[in-house]
Amino acid sequence: MTQLLPAPTGLAGTLAIPGDKSISHRAVMLGAISQGATQIHHFLAGEDCLRTLQAFRKLGVQIEQAQDEVLIHGQGWAGLHATNHPLQMGNSGTTTRLMMGLLAGRPFASQMIGDASLQKRPMKRVTEPLKAFGGQVRLSPAGTLPATITGQILHPATVELQVASAQVKSALILAALQADGPSTIIEKLPTRNHTELMLRQFGADITTASDQRTITVHPAPHLQGQTVTVPGDISSAAFFLVAGAIVPHSQITLTGVNLNPTRTGILNVLQQMGAQLTVTEYPSASEPIGDLTIQSSSLKPINLGPVDIPAVIDELPLVALLAACAQGTSKITGASELRVKETDRIATVSAELRKLGVQVTELPDGMIITGRPHWTIKNTQLDSHGDHRIGMMLAIAALKADRPLALGHADAVAVSYPEFFTDLARFRKKA
Ligand code: S3P
Repeated sequence: MTQLLPAPTGLAGTLAIPGDKSISHRAVMLGAISQGATQIHHFLAGEDCLRTLQAFRKLGVQIEQAQDEVLIHGQGWAGLHATNHPLQMGNSGTTTRLMMGLLAGRPFASQMIGDASLQKRPMKRVTEPLKAFGGQVRLSPAGTLPATITGQILHPATVELQVASAQVKSALILAALQADGPSTIIEKLPTRNHTELMLRQFGADITTASDQRTITVHPAPHLQGQTVTVPGDISSAAFFLVAGAIVPHSQITLTGVNLNPTRTGILNVLQQMGAQLTVTEYPSASEPIGDLTIQSSSLKPINLGPVDIPAVIDELPLVALLAACAQGTSKITGASELRVKETDRIATVSAELRKLGVQVTELPDGMIITGRPHWTIKNTQLDSHGDHRIGMMLAIAALKADRPLALGHADAVAVSYPEFFTDLARFRKKA
């Protein structure tokens, strides 16, 4: 159990946010299939991204890594080779799903396994549409890991996605790069577009239509290694933004944060709820970047529906916490995807917020939350359920409690933010 202390005198300070998880994964993957050196600065050395790095090492790619610096010696697609052992994906859905698409077109078979949580997550969402390209992946009868990918020669396809998922979209893009003609992928709703942006930098011909959801991918037998500086992860910054908003007497600045509009839903939520937030964007070549400053704020309730969800998907546990602090009743719908994240986040968020005395009604695809500026704690023993984002959300909630709380399975935070507790401690004011 990790003790979580309140912060009655507030939080203050400035923090440079660690690298973005989604972008770090993609930088390793594109570097591994490109020709020549790829240098990654500000890489997120969290457990999930290290799984990606390790998987490519197992496939024969030479990769050097020290903290947040990575150097990949790419030898193009042909630099990937069969390995006798299953690839261990740990907790990482992004590594698993994207690599299914990438390996579907390689001339060898690969196997994938994962931890208890990953083994429960749905994989047919990738393997079914991959069939349109000729991809062959065998899953368990439940449609989960372990997976066996039998590499095939892939053909172009036009696919309309059934779920709004950047992981599924990216898997299909990585397959389409290996096909022998142009493919079209049509998203259900626009989702994070880091794969598309980074592929353009590496020399691929990939275009997105003005509807923001129709993507044309041309074959890319030759990609060229690049230098990638990973911007700060807005999903990590979000914990401190919410801390600054809900803990009285606080002012926090977060620097170098990725402001890609497919990811900034949490900023819109904070603004709509009445938070005092300042966004300063500065010029950058590819992904937009900026600084964020937030102050303690009195919050109004919010309603989020299906179209709002993709840009805030990973921050919904934090939106629930904001709602728990707002004066009134908030509603989140269209978020059934939360049920198939690292945990069923509708169930785990509801169970944990109820321990804090917050009134939560579970919906099949969301939550109704009635907030209060002060909670009546019912149970001080909180639990991350092994889910990094639930653990960090609860650590932020505890800052506002009227007594110390305890967090079980706190080590889960290392999946996306190994330094989370150290960074959080920096904001505490000296007594
Ligand atoms: C991710 C996409 C999202 C997100 C996950 C990372 C990515 O998942 O929740 O944390 O890097 O593509 P889905 O694509 O399943 O929504």
